[in-house]
Amino acid sequence: MPESKIRTMGQQFGRRSWAEPWKIKMVEPLKMLTPDERRQALHEAGFNTFLLRSEDVYIDLLTDSGTSAMSDRQWAGMMLGDEAYAGSRNFYRLEEAIRKYYGYTHIVPTHQGRGAEHLISRALIEPGDFIPGNMYFTTTRLHQELAGGTFVDVIVDQAHNPTDPSPFKGDVDLAKLEALIKKVGAEKIPYVSLAGTVNMAGGQPVSMANVKAVRKMCDRYGIRLYLDATRMAENAFFIQEREAGYGDKSIAEILLEFCSYTDGAWMSAKKDNLVNIGGWLAVNHQDVFEKASNLVVVYEGLHTYGGMAGRDMEAVAIGIEEMVEDAHIHSRVRQVRYLGKLLVNWDIPIVEPVGGHAIFLDAKRFYPHVPQSQFPAQTLAAELYLDSGIRSMERGVVSAGRDPQTGDHRYPALELARLTIPRRVYTQAHMDVVAESVKAVYDAREKTRGLKMVYEPRYLRFFQARFEPLA
Ligand SMILES: Cc1ncc(COP(=O)(O)O)c(C=O)c1O
Repeated sequence: MPESKIRTMGQQFGRRSWAEPWKIKMVEPLKMLTPDERRQALHEAGFNTFLLRSEDVYIDLLTDSGTSAMSDRQWAGMMLGDEAYAGSRNFYRLEEAIRKYYGYTHIVPTHQGRGAEHLISRALIEPGDFIPGNMYFTTTRLHQELAGGTFVDVIVDQAHNPTDPSPFKGDVDLAKLEALIKKVGAEKIPYVSLAGTVNMAGGQPVSMANVKAVRKMCDRYGIRLYLDATRMAENAFFIQEREAGYGDKSIAEILLEFCSYTDGAWMSAKKDNLVNIGGWLAVNHQDVFEKASNLVVVYEGLHTYGGMAGRDMEAVAIGIEEMVEDAHIHSRVRQVRYLGKLLVNWDIPIVEPVGGHAIFLDAKRFYPHVPQSQFPAQTLAAELYLDSGIRSMERGVVSAGRDPQTGDHRYPALELARLTIPRRVYTQAHMDVVAESVKAVYDAREKTRGLKMVYEPRYLRFFQARFEPLA
């Protein structure tokens, strides 16, 4: 191509370019294994990307959980860790940040998100209860089930369709919610479990109009509403971008308003809050706070550290302040979208619209010849690793697990391989390399065969299951 034809990224999309709003102060070298070494590593890992050694991975898109790069301010904050067993100064900083940006009254720290899910599930669910929610999440549902509850999916139908272009595919279907309340009775529903954004649907957002309507319905029936706030800053970005009346509001204002319609939230701080470990539960009702702060000392740690070191809590407090900066969240979501646009441009099937934290490859359309019982998304994650050392993860039949009543595989409508983008870690050049690798795997799709599961653990099987290629 002649030099004059070379175009910057922005020019290719008919606009001025944007760049990541940070510069790199410390680097971590990456290494790519040879194709033979990758094949060997994948065999040893039982064709499960969770079982690969991170050293054998080139670009790691397994998860955005705990993989963020912390800022210089966060690292400096870690030196201010007050490692007292009780009453650490950093706990009060964290409490202040959560009150200011999320608006909740009482805070219980936990080691990570599932610690908070355990506390809220144990505090509120009685055996025989039903918990409606906008699509299941693996650990959330498991804690609800372990507490004796049954999760019921009340997300809008569009969420199960990877090509539906609706802007808020994370919304609750109010008719489904009301039908459940009428069927089982409000007294059997301890709370509605709302997540923003919805991970398993492809990072799809919930609209402000929807959370307001859910709140109204909850009030009508006397049911509480709790939020999985793990990626609520990303959800706020989509409201700012897509919902009438919010274009001029800041991410911080939108987040605070959204949370004000809920009674509390659990949080994996390892995502939006830009830290490598941590979580919290925040509630407005004193009775729930008392139960949770009693349980936390049994399962996590004292109620002023909950499994985190003082320095970790300081990093979370600073991460919350950085998370709501508009420049940060804009570049974060746009980087994900950039990768998505490249793939769509090559007609590679992904979940659309692109969500906040990841690109979800639609394995059913990618490998139409591989039946869901042969784990097409698991196969796709394995093939990507073989092609380039890029690590992704399965979000399909393996993640969905088995029905506790029948023992059968649950076959979700969505069979996806997730390319999850860590925050502030990779550049646009990495995204180009990823896109080209997905294209190479797509071009070779017809030769690809599925897998069979040869080892299956009882809980959250996707983490440790092992597979072999079908002959
Ligand atoms: C939506 C959502 N909720 C809860 C969790 C659980 O959080 P953690 O991994 O910190 O235990 C996760 C993490 O993957 C998540 O994505």
